[in-house]
Amino acid sequence: IGKLPLRGKKVLITAGPTYEAIDPVRFIGNHSSGKMGFAIAETAAALGASVVLVCGPTHLKLSGKTIERIDVTSAEEMFEAVKSEYADADIAIAAAAVADYKPATVADQKIKKKGAALQINLEPTPDILKYMGEQKQNQFLVGFALETENEIANAKGKLTRKNLDLIVLNSLNDTGAGFKTETNKVTFITREGDILPQELKAKEKVAQDLFQFIQEKLYA
Ligand code: PMT
Repeated sequence: IGKLPLRGKKVLITAGPTYEAIDPVRFIGNHSSGKMGFAIAETAAALGASVVLVCGPTHLKLSGKTIERIDVTSAEEMFEAVKSEYADADIAIAAAAVADYKPATVADQKIKKKGAALQINLEPTPDILKYMGEQKQNQFLVGFALETENEIANAKGKLTRKNLDLIVLNSLNDTGAGFKTETNKVTFITREGDILPQELKAKEKVAQDLFQFIQEKLYA
């Protein structure tokens, strides 16, 4: 395998939040900073992979130049980018926190404040990871699950429904895990049913352990 075990492999990664516009001023978003996905991208590049990083709005910068970065704003845009990059990927890892719903219509002008309550109708966004599961040929497909309750059961449900090889569970009940932190505490759950809790560690180390695990699965 050598020092660059992912040389010749294409790794597709999603990272960060998506923003779903309400009007020209406002959006529906979430707290993802992009740190977890960026750590995965930098690690994949360091292992010799050809990396495509599709990322939602984030201020983060990449240290290396070898990563192809595609900046998007909405779930729909992330979906389009993933669709054009997925077919020839060897490994795909979805670390983005994609909005599940978007406003059904986007107001042309800033919505004016009125006295009464305001209702915004929401409609579902495309499930990007589910698409990747459906289109899967030889890709090793990894999803993340961010949970707040019934963590293992919910993560297993996503693994099955989205036809994943591996899901990386992180829970907002664990200190130092999830959004914005420099660290994460994850559990690897495999298609074969293995449940492997990991220690709290830097997101870079989580990313390194993830690729170690994937390589063992792929080339064992
Ligand atoms: O960016 P950070 O601040 O470092 O935070 C990292 C993180 C918490 C965002 C990351 O570790 C993480 O858990 N990412 C997934 C967050 C999430 O939206 O999980 P979910 O359980 O809602 O989604 C399950 C999986 O489906 C995820 O791989 C997600 O990328 C994917 N998905 C979800 C909805 C959708 N419409 N399309 C998708 O591809």
